[in-house]
Amino acid sequence: MTNKVRAAVFPVAGRGTRFLPATKASPKEMLPIVDKPLIQYAVEEAIDAGATKLVFVTGSSKRAIEDHFDSDPELERALAAAGKDKLLESIRSIVPDGVTCIYIRQGEPLGLGHAVLCARAAVGDEPFFVHLADDLIAAETPCLTQMVAEHDRHGGSVIAVETVPPEDTSSYGIVAVDDASRITQIVEKPAPDKAPSHSAVVGRYLLAPEIFEKLETIGRGAGGEIQLTDGIADLLDESPVYAYSFSGRRFDCGSKLGYLMATVAYGLSHPDTGEAFRAQLRNVIDD
Ligand code: UTP
Repeated sequence: MTNKVRAAVFPVAGRGTRFLPATKASPKEMLPIVDKPLIQYAVEEAIDAGATKLVFVTGSSKRAIEDHFDSDPELERALAAAGKDKLLESIRSIVPDGVTCIYIRQGEPLGLGHAVLCARAAVGDEPFFVHLADDLIAAETPCLTQMVAEHDRHGGSVIAVETVPPEDTSSYGIVAVDDASRITQIVEKPAPDKAPSHSAVVGRYLLAPEIFEKLETIGRGAGGEIQLTDGIADLLDESPVYAYSFSGRRFDCGSKLGYLMATVAYGLSHPDTGEAFRAQLRNVIDD
């Protein structure tokens, strides 16, 4: 028996140091891919998977995110007066009716686990999504929707994973699984010779609410941060956590190269820009 997942948590309180100076006054989640910020792709994916309560865990310099999801009557009036109906609709539909946004401040960036814990009161005693907007996943069926189907099959928590090159294990949470894909071990950023596999956790989680109890008690882990990975490790014996190899292509938009790759991929498949971009890109590469 499974519950519908209604709450989605978006931890957006990280410092985004890899994108400085672009992220000095503006959050990395507001970086655009073609014409939408990363956080809007994230919200659309969560809503597609059934979320109706969007919980943003914000830090300093995150005002732009609240402004983005707030209504803007002045802009709407201006677009209406100019007859720009398509743009007007694209602004109005950012947060559909029936969807609520909640903003919670993480006073200090003490780690992803701490950011998730900050959302506890807003989520309540229900399973919930955690979505890291800088992992952008292009997929025919959005990744969180795939994970809901997986959750419906066996309940428990579900974490998206993908295979990474052996030398990259120290950038990820790495899992070991049994024959039923149930996670038996999870380690944060292990050195290649200590990694239990090459199966890396990416930024999509469907978590049982019991995770909050674990996050309360784990203390600081790798990098001196309160790690979501450590909370999940504590959960494994009590409640099943499954690794899910999603269908789709992930872009690590927290890194410059991943962000540029996403811009090219989304630009090439965008209905407005795709064809012209392909032609122009060839010229740029050949120059
Ligand atoms: P990252 O490890 O990508 O860190 O965080 P970061 O600070 O955002 O970026 P860099 O490494 O300095 O460039 C993973 C996710 O967890 C969130 C981040 O916003 C990001 O979505 N996070 C991290 C928090 O919300 N709070 C924290 O204390 C730490």
